[in-house]
Amino acid sequence: MGAFIHNTKLDHLLRPEDYSSQEFWREEITHLFHKSWQYAGLADHVAKPGSYLARDVAGVPVVVRNFGGELRAFRNSCPHRHSMIVGEGRGCSRKFKCMYHGWEFGDKGQVTHIPDGISFHGIKAADHSLQPLRLCRVGSLLFINLSPGEETLHQSVGALGPELDQYFGNHQPVWHWVSEHEANWKIIEENAVESYHVPMAHPETFAHYKAPELHDHALEPGYTRYADLEPWKNGVVDRGFKALARHLVPKPNYERFKHTHLFPNSLLYYNEIFSTWASLQPVSPGRTRYEIVGFIPRNLRGGLPARLALRVIVQPLIKQFGRILSEDMKIWPTIHRGLKHSPHTGVLSCREERVHAFQEYVLAKLPERFRLARQRSAA
Ligand code: FES
Ligand SMILES: [Fe+2]
Repeated sequence: MGAFIHNTKLDHLLRPEDYSSQEFWREEITHLFHKSWQYAGLADHVAKPGSYLARDVAGVPVVVRNFGGELRAFRNSCPHRHSMIVGEGRGCSRKFKCMYHGWEFGDKGQVTHIPDGISFHGIKAADHSLQPLRLCRVGSLLFINLSPGEETLHQSVGALGPELDQYFGNHQPVWHWVSEHEANWKIIEENAVESYHVPMAHPETFAHYKAPELHDHALEPGYTRYADLEPWKNGVVDRGFKALARHLVPKPNYERFKHTHLFPNSLLYYNEIFSTWASLQPVSPGRTRYEIVGFIPRNLRGGLPARLALRVIVQPLIKQFGRILSEDMKIWPTIHRGLKHSPHTGVLSCREERVHAFQEYVLAKLPERFRLARQRSAA
């Protein structure tokens, strides 16, 4: 284990215009975002029967509602005259009723009541149901897939499934941060998966990048992962972390942390006492919404008091996390601006091999004409 998978420089597969072109962006939305599992909110927010949450997922308004304990997801467009059924945000209602003319719907999306139904004489209610969407859960995290299909989120992530369950499956949200940035979504993904920028962008928080042998990289078809192999030292922070794991976690593994980029747009950081799930939503080619939720495990030795204590203990960690993120956030718009006018092809080091794997994934998912155009210009 350890060291990079590649040992030479790598091609920068995407071209500068791929980060700002409207056409490229539209294709990404269709082929990457509408065909993958997308974060859609927290189950804690729809825990009560009748509660719902409505939001945009990859530009599409969706609604998740609790029907007597069962969560269901639909496109948030009414079959009558297309209004959103409920406005964006969260709420709770006895009936699932459209905000415009009051059509009501059941748990399968079927119409259950039409006000002044007589004026729709001849209508077949079954032809006018809501469109259901696939919904999956990992602990508190809810995911929607906008495409029809049978595959669950767990089936789609393969070997990563048990790891997601271990670090997110029975966890309590303790931190939530949403922000928007003037940068293409891929810039933010790529920034998160390489440590080459660390000495320049994080001189005080991380200080320096690590030697190759302290990196455990995995480059898989659906994700890339970094595991931190730095040995534990004798300092206060390291000893504190190990003591926490020893006292709180039922079967501690004393791993430092892993960072996974689940393609296309989820960034996960996790260890046994704290984990974060970040989801990036492209608002336009040059604007991205960044949403991050932080968790602590529910299953701790010491039960509820231990969980309450850990919630307090992780606050400095969250603060540090926010600080590092703010350092990165500052540079995203400047990267975007440089890319937009760059005359260069770009190049990647093997330290940046996770960026390369992501770019390979993006091109593989897009229609063939994008790959052919690149082959022609490389020839
Ligand atoms: S648009 Fe929903 S009831 Fe008319
Ligand atoms: Fe960074």
